[in-house]
Amino acid sequence: MKVITKLLAATALVSASAASAVELEVTHWWTSGGEAAAVSKFAEAWNATGNTWLDGAIAGSGGTARPIIISRILGGDPMAATQLNHGRQAEELIEAGLMLDLTDVAEAGGWRDIVNPPALLDSCTLDGRIYCVPINIHSAQWLWLSHDAFEKAGVEVPADWNAFVDAAPALREAGVLPLAMGQQGWQQNLAFGAITIAVAGLDAWREVTVNRNADVAAGPEYAAVFEAVADARELARGSDVQDWNQATNMVITGNAGAQLMGDWAQGEFAVAGQIEGQDYSCLPGLGLNAILDTGGDAFYFPVNRDPEITAAQKELAALLISPDVQVAFNLAKGSLPVRGDINMAAANGCMQKGLAILADGGVLPSGDQSLSADTQLQIEDLMAQFWSGDMPAGEAQAKYASIIASAD
Ligand code: GAL
Repeated sequence: MKVITKLLAATALVSASAASAVELEVTHWWTSGGEAAAVSKFAEAWNATGNTWLDGAIAGSGGTARPIIISRILGGDPMAATQLNHGRQAEELIEAGLMLDLTDVAEAGGWRDIVNPPALLDSCTLDGRIYCVPINIHSAQWLWLSHDAFEKAGVEVPADWNAFVDAAPALREAGVLPLAMGQQGWQQNLAFGAITIAVAGLDAWREVTVNRNADVAAGPEYAAVFEAVADARELARGSDVQDWNQATNMVITGNAGAQLMGDWAQGEFAVAGQIEGQDYSCLPGLGLNAILDTGGDAFYFPVNRDPEITAAQKELAALLISPDVQVAFNLAKGSLPVRGDINMAAANGCMQKGLAILADGGVLPSGDQSLSADTQLQIEDLMAQFWSGDMPAGEAQAKYASIIASAD
């Protein structure tokens, strides 16, 4: 009799664990060295629960991946989970009832109390319900500087954007490209946004990006911005790479002096074995305005008819924001965690600068959080034309002001 009891118990155990072992397909666009190292921390954590992470990496930038992700969901072939930037990118999918309501998970996990700044969670909330789990703050306003490049040029590593602009001729003299820039609109728009905050300041930026004030966009503060961007365009002349991490690699190898890029560039320096403060330096807010945007990444979960999948989706959402996973992922990614209650002592000097700015409340909403995806795309298209051609600054500003005038 005992043998049968044991066999039955063993069978029940196996079937229970087999029942809970769920494979989830997860899509994202993290395919650079640093990004892949970071997303593997999520996969490892999910696999460690006995479930299976089916990685659905999509090569290219978010601009390439988002239409693929969205069309799969609209087309009835949804993945189980997907990265998107938190904010308005998923707005229409949520309104169509295609995204899983995570409010019960958020309440059980106390997200309202742990997510910092709280605005991150607002960017996952529509009509009082929560539809994504924010997993990092990926601020965009960083200047990454190669120590090797400035040594070649015989000048000090700049302490801010203005000193960098002044050092550009010496870099050119030494055969070094001053500013590495991938030839994609979202990268050129990121650079435009970073320069805007440095040159026009936070109030003017907020007036335009949050309040959509086309008069300020057409006004003198932004005229100075477009002149500064036209100057920066000259510093990037000859940067004939496409992807952001190719531009980062030009800085890593000392072939370019600097790159304006989000904090995810940090993951590339880490994978290349470079040490912050020794091989490269970082200037949040370009060393002029200690401000970071609270854009970031979040995971959304398309609605699934299978209750077992739904339960697993909610389990994964809770896992991605858990303390240990937050530390492991963000240290690898170079981004800031969404929780203020975890130990980030292992973070390097660049991340510590970001954490200090966050602690001081020097944050602002990103364009992804304020403007519709369509408006963002219009601005990115304008920036692609402006940065790669010879459009006069005044013409670019007029076009920009009219986009803001009709922004939604
Ligand atoms: C952003 C994303 C970052 C980084 C970047 C470059 O949209 O939020 O995490 O991956 O794209 O791919």
